[in-house]
Amino acid sequence: MRYVYLITFFVVVLTAGVLGYRGSIATKPPLEVFPDMDRMPKYKPQAESAFFADGRSDRPIPTGTVARGQANLDSHLSAGRAASGEFVRGFPVSIPVDNVLMARGKERFDIYCAVCHGQNGDGKGIVAAYGWGGAVSFHNDLYRAMPEGELYNTVTNGKNTMMGYGDKLDTRDRWAVVAYLRALQRAHNGKASDVPQANKAELGIQ
Ligand code: HEC
Repeated sequence: MRYVYLITFFVVVLTAGVLGYRGSIATKPPLEVFPDMDRMPKYKPQAESAFFADGRSDRPIPTGTVARGQANLDSHLSAGRAASGEFVRGFPVSIPVDNVLMARGKERFDIYCAVCHGQNGDGKGIVAAYGWGGAVSFHNDLYRAMPEGELYNTVTNGKNTMMGYGDKLDTRDRWAVVAYLRALQRAHNGKASDVPQANKAELGIQ
């Protein structure tokens, strides 16, 4: 019998607790087990601020800031194209092709491209072993003859099923990758006569 009183008591308290407050408006935030950032200290646009000397929450744009994609670079450097829109052969003057660039290109290529195109650019990257083919080999006349600007454009924007790397590699890195791609092509298509005299002996060629 005691239990019946007890249970009745809890049911009454529960019912009154849940239903009794219907319609009354709470002034405090509800109990949140996981606060979901509904309330947080922040500035709304064009609000006042006591923190900054000028009293504004909006901060002026730092001088020299350029919005993404708005940089007024030369089109060879930024797009691999001449002013006429044609793809350019060769590298932009501001990107000297030296050992530093080449080393950077190799590093980036091995990270970003080798999975599909293979470490030596033969199109047989690791993904092929998992049934994902389609990445091209760079060792054919089409890609040997392709202007650097067009290769750069593919790295930036992608091509058909290949995604672009413009958001992952900055301008210089993309040119570095193109330089390294060229190096892979030359190495792959090399002849004994390309090897400097001094290195012939170590490679066992006449
Ligand atoms: C996820 C796989 C994948 C990755 C990673 C990848 N590619 Fe590709 N790439 C492809 C595929 C697939 C194609 C062929 C696209 C097509 O159908 O024309 C291709 C095509 C190309 C082409 C030839 C484009 C043309 O004009 O025909 C170039 C050049 C190239 N990739 C360079 C790169 C470089 C450089 C990187 C690294 C920054 C890279 N790719 C990373 C899959 C990839």
